[in-house]
Amino acid sequence: MAQQEKIIVVDMGSQYTQLIARRIRELDVFSEIRTTDITLEDIKHEMPIGLILSGGPGSVYVHGSPEIDPKILELGIPILGICYGLQFIGRMHGGEVISAKAAEYGKTDLQVVEPDSVLFRNLNPELICWMSHGDVLASPPKGFRLVAKTYHTPVAAMENPARKLYAVQFHPEVTHTPWGVELLRNFAFEVCKAGGTWKVSSFVEDATANIRESVKSARVLCGISGGIDSLATAVLVQRAIGEQLHCIFVDHGLMRMNEADQVERVFKKQFKANFQRVNAARRFFGKLRGVTNPERKRKIIGREFIRVFEEAALKVKNVKYIAQGTIYPDVVESHGVGKHQHVIKSHHNVGGLPRTMKLKLVEPLRDLFKDEVRKVALNLGVPESVVYRQPFPGPGLAIRIIGAVTPFKVRILQQADAIIQEELASSEIYADIGQAFGVLPDIRSVGVMGDRRTYGYPIILRIVTTTDWMTADWARIPYNVLETISNRIINEVPQVNRVAYDISSKPPATIEWE
Ligand code: XMP
Repeated sequence: MAQQEKIIVVDMGSQYTQLIARRIRELDVFSEIRTTDITLEDIKHEMPIGLILSGGPGSVYVHGSPEIDPKILELGIPILGICYGLQFIGRMHGGEVISAKAAEYGKTDLQVVEPDSVLFRNLNPELICWMSHGDVLASPPKGFRLVAKTYHTPVAAMENPARKLYAVQFHPEVTHTPWGVELLRNFAFEVCKAGGTWKVSSFVEDATANIRESVKSARVLCGISGGIDSLATAVLVQRAIGEQLHCIFVDHGLMRMNEADQVERVFKKQFKANFQRVNAARRFFGKLRGVTNPERKRKIIGREFIRVFEEAALKVKNVKYIAQGTIYPDVVESHGVGKHQHVIKSHHNVGGLPRTMKLKLVEPLRDLFKDEVRKVALNLGVPESVVYRQPFPGPGLAIRIIGAVTPFKVRILQQADAIIQEELASSEIYADIGQAFGVLPDIRSVGVMGDRRTYGYPIILRIVTTTDWMTADWARIPYNVLETISNRIINEVPQVNRVAYDISSKPPATIEWE
């Protein structure tokens, strides 16, 4: 197969690294994230059309801060440094990085002093950009020319076109730099000369052919979690090998109301797949009894999930492969691609492979981002209502019940959650919402109903807007919608006597409560 045209994003520790890669792919150019361990030889071998050095929290003058082999900068491959990437390129060429007089965070006026720079082609010279840094490059090093500056940043953009080296101090990848995508487009198409041929439909054709070729006549197992990743994987593998696929759906009893039945329906009725549902709720509740620590809950559910799956899988004969819905962010987060970043929560549905079975892996989506997986699923005929369903965590409602998880509490939360989903789905704001759910805390409060004193649970409503799930804001929900949700939950769920609304953004909070 001919080598695919790609731009490599080297992760130097930025929380935005994945965003950079996605932006490039949105331009129909394949892009891949790599660690700073990438060698000169790797690059010569893989021949990317360009490199982007991400930002990062480090200071270039601190010992041990991320760096790549400086010889890579001399290869003549187009390179764009972003934020820390600019400082790294600057320093490698003898420039001086100093602490800024005032750190710049957030929206900043940018003044382009060389509007003929290819990066700024077709852009206005007075722009707003998004900054997030404490260090600056004092002046462009020898061979580079200054392209843009801000009040506190003497070098906000610089370039050495003869050596195809470009760098910006601000973040073109974030939506707060609204024209940033144009800059990335200029880099990809004008500097790297990309062809822009990476499309989802061709991905589906290639992936189907690859699966057939590697699996041949063997049987393949696939664990279904109810989420879009495993669903798209199963549908893609089924397209390739039909009856040879055997799907196992572990129902841990922590799904939303009726959702397990819905999953079963889609597979059995629509895709006529070989589909086995294992009802394991009692087993999970048993293992979770009395457990209150969020990380322990996650670990227990993850481990039990694998055990139940493994037991069911061992009964299927002549299996050689296991298909997994690993997607690109999972690869980046769990295989150390983003090694300079911190792990905030352990996600259980990653790497859930029964190790004792010695099965070979089929991971057809491992190069794709979530939005690309959705496009693949639509392309394969999965209904929109399923494809655009809100993300749901692998450990399910267990991490939305603070304290010990019991069937009783799951039932309360399922009822409240069903009302939240129903009311939002019929409201005009539904399309703007990233995720909405209820949280059941481990506290009770006094209320009054009729003439009776109540002592019931509150439900905390968590409704967020987000585009990337890495940052999120609480949704500004119209009062009348909040009112209906609150009234319905309190009237229809007997154990609940109060509804509160969570008005925290991520960061510093997270979307889920555990
Ligand atoms: P946080 O709470 O980290 O959540 O802001 C970000 C997104 O990830 C989802 N989430 C999970 N998804 N397995 C998953 O597949 C998990 O263990 C898990 N934990 C959180 C969360 O619902 C949100 O969409």
